[in-house]
Amino acid sequence: MCGIVAYIGDKEAKPILIKGLHRLEYRGYDSAGIALINGGLKIYKTKGKVSDLEAKIEGLKLDSTIGVAHTRWATHGEPNSINAHPHHSNSQKLAVIHNGIIENYDVLKKALIERGYQFYSETDTEVLVNLIEDIQKNEQVVLDEAVRIALNQVTGAYAIAVLSEENPNKLIVARKGSPMVIGIGDGEFYVASDATPIVEYTKSVVYLAEEDMAILERGKEIKLKTIKNKEKTPYIEALEMDLTALEKDGYDHFMLKEIFEQPRSIRDSMRGRLNADKGIVSLGGIADYEQKLVNAKRIIIIACGTSWHAGLVGEYLLEDLARIPVEVEYASEFRYRNPIITENDVVIAISQSGETADTLAAIALAKEKGATILGICNVVGSSIARSTDAGSYTHAGPEIGVASTKAFTAQVTLLTLMALRLAQIKGTIPASRWMQLLHELESIPSKIEKTLQSADVIKEIAWQFKDVSNFLYLGRGYNFPVALEGALKLKEISYIHAEGYPAAEMKHGPIALIDNNMPVVFIAPNVGIYDKVVSNIQEVKARNGKVIAIVTEGDEVVRSMVDFVIEIPVTEELFTPLLATIPLQKLAYHMAVMRGCNVDQPRNLAKSVTVE
Ligand code: AGP
Repeated sequence: MCGIVAYIGDKEAKPILIKGLHRLEYRGYDSAGIALINGGLKIYKTKGKVSDLEAKIEGLKLDSTIGVAHTRWATHGEPNSINAHPHHSNSQKLAVIHNGIIENYDVLKKALIERGYQFYSETDTEVLVNLIEDIQKNEQVVLDEAVRIALNQVTGAYAIAVLSEENPNKLIVARKGSPMVIGIGDGEFYVASDATPIVEYTKSVVYLAEEDMAILERGKEIKLKTIKNKEKTPYIEALEMDLTALEKDGYDHFMLKEIFEQPRSIRDSMRGRLNADKGIVSLGGIADYEQKLVNAKRIIIIACGTSWHAGLVGEYLLEDLARIPVEVEYASEFRYRNPIITENDVVIAISQSGETADTLAAIALAKEKGATILGICNVVGSSIARSTDAGSYTHAGPEIGVASTKAFTAQVTLLTLMALRLAQIKGTIPASRWMQLLHELESIPSKIEKTLQSADVIKEIAWQFKDVSNFLYLGRGYNFPVALEGALKLKEISYIHAEGYPAAEMKHGPIALIDNNMPVVFIAPNVGIYDKVVSNIQEVKARNGKVIAIVTEGDEVVRSMVDFVIEIPVTEELFTPLLATIPLQKLAYHMAVMRGCNVDQPRNLAKSVTVE
């Protein structure tokens, strides 16, 4: 997704802006640009990476203490230097950077063309900057008022920063539908799409709410209001993030670091919520909604991508343990299929970034129809977190790699805790079993550590299969969602086509694909309907399929049948997703590295999909 960074203060703006763009690269983008005021408004932008932009401005004398910068993920118009942001107005005295989509830009553009404006790009953003200029000229108003009036004419989503050559001591920022954080420094302001470009300078932040705008004037306090001109008192919060979380700490990639962080991120997500010795599970964030959940006619889980896979694990957990009916919906489908939603429904929205447009829109629909909305998010203060009635944060820490890893296992951890807590309230788990499950759950981070340190047969497997074109992932029960997640990890970072399927479903079609060139990953821990999975493995082997099996340590039965085995420690069936996912993440990672792929920023992908 697009990333925006802006600065006004007494420091050199250029290095702050460029470093800020690097911090936002993980969001995925295809072009970058910067605007500064240095003897007039100067704009530099290029297709490609932030490093290409740096090369372009290398050696230029660009002293300035105010500026805006942007990484673009193309929505209107192909990735090129014309469509890259910042965009200037016809007078070349105004520049705007924008994350989001202006849905009525073509109507606005036609009107501006009739009034003599010219356009050079295909973007909606260029329309906005000229609309602001047109209003400023015709209404004879100050810049912030022109921005406010313009935003009232806009439909869609935006997070914008406006820079004016004639107002070198003022930045105007605003947001609706796309995130924006303002860092409050000593006589200076930092603005960004999230806190990662800000945290090294200040931990005092203001999260803009929907339809907020702020006037950031040098040497003055932040001035906050809505685009309806309602003054607001800024709520300054303390950032919990720390800088080390943003560095690779010696790992080759953020994704590898985040895979290895999972023992910690799961411990952090359980901290204060699980006390096995005392037999306590508590999720404070949703404590007030426990009865609503227990009495819910139905729980509807909405999410996208990996978060949707976590939701699928949640369905197995909540129905198996707490006996509550659960539906799992792709947010992008749910929002448009005219679903039946009542006030007796509880919706759980799951999102790592907390900014996914489809999930936000699905929440709005469910809220409109009276459902109770709970959230499971990883980013504090994110739009989804703010749009729910209540929720619990995963404490996985910033997830920089575009492919989600630690956020997934943290989401599954929270869903496991929720299912256990609701089961306890409903009395569906006997007391002796209760303590057993809690102690086993408490041991999971150590078992993940063991899995992570295991002999790296995974690299050998990756080397063997790095050049194949297709992979099949098969699992049953709690591990069917793990099969889907394993397939997604592989395809999104190695670009190998991979499909996840319920193992038994293979016979209804995919078995036609099985031959010597089709590697099949089975998630086959010795739990649940293990014997059925073994039968499915035999069906694949009978057709010369190559089988890689994730098995419970010591399983010699499956080892004797398959080509490769990856062992995971013994655990309860319901906790196997937390263990079985780890080797699949590592397999995808090593295959992507061996194929020379950009692991942390895979092609075409964005870390946070804030557009439809
Ligand atoms: C996961 O590896 C992908 N990057 C993607 O599917 C992601 O899970 C999806 O876009 C949802 O994002 P969210 O959790 O931030 O809402």
